[in-house]
Amino acid sequence: MTTRDAGPSGALRVAPSILAADFGSLAAAVRDIDAETDWLHVDVMDGHFVPNVSIGPPVVHSLRRYSTRFFDCHLMMTEPGRYLEAFAKAGADGCTVHVEVGGTAALIADARSLGLRVGLAANPDTPFTKVAPYLGDIDLLLLMTVFPGFGGQSFLGDVMPKVNEARREVDAHDLALDIEVDGGIDLTTAPIAVEAGANVLVAGSAIFGQPVPLEAAHELRAAALSVRS
Ligand code: DX5
Ligand code: ZN
Repeated sequence: MTTRDAGPSGALRVAPSILAADFGSLAAAVRDIDAETDWLHVDVMDGHFVPNVSIGPPVVHSLRRYSTRFFDCHLMMTEPGRYLEAFAKAGADGCTVHVEVGGTAALIADARSLGLRVGLAANPDTPFTKVAPYLGDIDLLLLMTVFPGFGGQSFLGDVMPKVNEARREVDAHDLALDIEVDGGIDLTTAPIAVEAGANVLVAGSAIFGQPVPLEAAHELRAAALSVRS
């Protein structure tokens, strides 16, 4: 994988979520975890689509100086279209928008025209039928395994049939699409999600909330790989 390359679709990837890192020393947190980072997951919350506020393009811009990894930006925003260009300019590599906010086809086209890798996210209670029409136009399908807004929540196993449905669809049509899960992913739940068909694992608390994040990420990868081998 070359610098800032997303890598081959379908390959197992670990995406540490900086939401669980110490925002007072983000650069150090990102550097310390670098060897186990396939993608760096950046959670953007607007206080409207979700009841929390996090970070935006200036932080992406600053972190770009400390990491050559693929920046996987998860836009939990009611109006992501207003900010796609700012994220692209700041150094985002991929941007994921939520299907629940609507205007999906235009958002995908806008993100694509900015040279971004394009992701579409669905909340736990959003059915697969809502994202299915777009699978041929996106690079990443993010199936939330918690209701977005906060780190440290419990994994919702009820989402696994949807992950499996997506995997069957991707395989049946040989789509170049990554399936990402986000929320409550840890040593116990990562193998469950991979078994169901996910190949990108976002983890915040299970990595940055541990005494040695680098080791925790390494263990998470090993747990996930044990299912695929
Ligand atoms: C939740 C965010 C997640 C969050 C995951 O709204 O989208 O990326 O950081 O945190 P953990 O891994 O702690 O559940
Ligand atoms: Zn996220």
